[in-house]
Amino acid sequence: MTASSALPYQRLHVELDARRYPIHVGPGLLDAPDMLVPYLAGRQVMIVTNETVAPLYLERLKRTLSGDDRDVRDVREVILPDGEHTKTLASVERIWDALLAAGFNRRCTLVALGGGVIGDMAGFAAACYQRGVAFVQVPTTLLSQVDSSVGGKTGVNHPRGKNMIGAFWQPRAVLIDTGTLATLPARELSAGLAEVIKYGLIQDADFLAWLEARMPALRGLDVEALTEAILRSCAIKAEIVARDETEQGQRALLNLGHTFGHAIEAHQGYGNWLHGEAVGAGMLMAAALSQRLGWLAADDMARVETLVADTGLPVTAPAAMSADDFLATMRLDKKNIDDRLRLVLLSSLGEACVYDDTPSDMLESLLADFPRA
Ligand code: NAD
Ligand code: GLY
Repeated sequence: MTASSALPYQRLHVELDARRYPIHVGPGLLDAPDMLVPYLAGRQVMIVTNETVAPLYLERLKRTLSGDDRDVRDVREVILPDGEHTKTLASVERIWDALLAAGFNRRCTLVALGGGVIGDMAGFAAACYQRGVAFVQVPTTLLSQVDSSVGGKTGVNHPRGKNMIGAFWQPRAVLIDTGTLATLPARELSAGLAEVIKYGLIQDADFLAWLEARMPALRGLDVEALTEAILRSCAIKAEIVARDETEQGQRALLNLGHTFGHAIEAHQGYGNWLHGEAVGAGMLMAAALSQRLGWLAADDMARVETLVADTGLPVTAPAAMSADDFLATMRLDKKNIDDRLRLVLLSSLGEACVYDDTPSDMLESLLADFPRA
């Protein structure tokens, strides 16, 4: 086994006082025991993964967690079906069943091995099991590496709305093995890049320009470019989460495009549009609304459109979705206060705000006029 200290890796932290935790980023980290073992609460470990990821990475992770002496740790696994439509309380119950069947106690650790669906469910299972146990994120999609594994938002979908049931529960560590991206389908890579673009749009115009130049390399799985994109994204997210863990203010900016995107996901049936694809189209809708408000110049709008298209993401909304369909789900958004719709919009490229005063006729006409396909 390669000694982890020999692996080239980089580390940042989410600064949350006593709950401060590291994000380790590098190739081959799945084989690095000292990036994982120190973050386990005790000897009981439950790996939570799915039917797609298990054949690819489960055995390696088990070997790393078990160590040379398999008696030291009791490492089990629960393998769930794959897909956004499985992000339900019923799946989380399967995790709790496995923990109880194994006789695991409060000093157990859940290790989420997979994309955002697995990470969100494993984290929620950890938040509730015996009123809260440790968990570690081992994200294997780009989207989960740049966004969902960091920051402690956990939960499941409800038929009436995305991520409507959940808890804030921080992991003890995030281990990003960039090598896992080699097996990721191209469509999933593009979906992850949507969240990367989001960071540039909301607070880093230089990063946005870097993404415009490096998009072909990123889509071509250039390891150096992907590592930089992951590090810059995680740094922005870690900084925002440290300042506003439970989304009382600034963290809401991380939802650029999500109010529109969640409506698309719910309307189309979970999993038919990937989360990142819906966010990509949603960011365009938010940018178009910002332009109508007079905040974004036509040139800047064109840059956003080109970047989203170059990423391989949809630039149109679903054909069968009316303005009323959008509004029905948008009214349930978690950011809303009382009856006021709160949207994340762009005050300029690289700067976002939460706005609750969009004239309703402007929003309705934007929703009606936005291109469909
Ligand atoms: P996902 O978890 O469904 O993974 C996408 C697909 O890739 C799945 O089929 C998965 O099995 C497969 N996969 C995972 N790793 C792979 C690999 N290395 N090689 C090959 N296939 C692999 O989707 P996602 O895009 O990772 O995450 C989306 C979810 O994350 C949504 O439910 C969204 O709501 C949630 N999310 C949460 C947060 C948060 O802060 N908690 C933030 C953003 C998104
Ligand atoms: N993905 C939004 C957040 O973590 O707040």
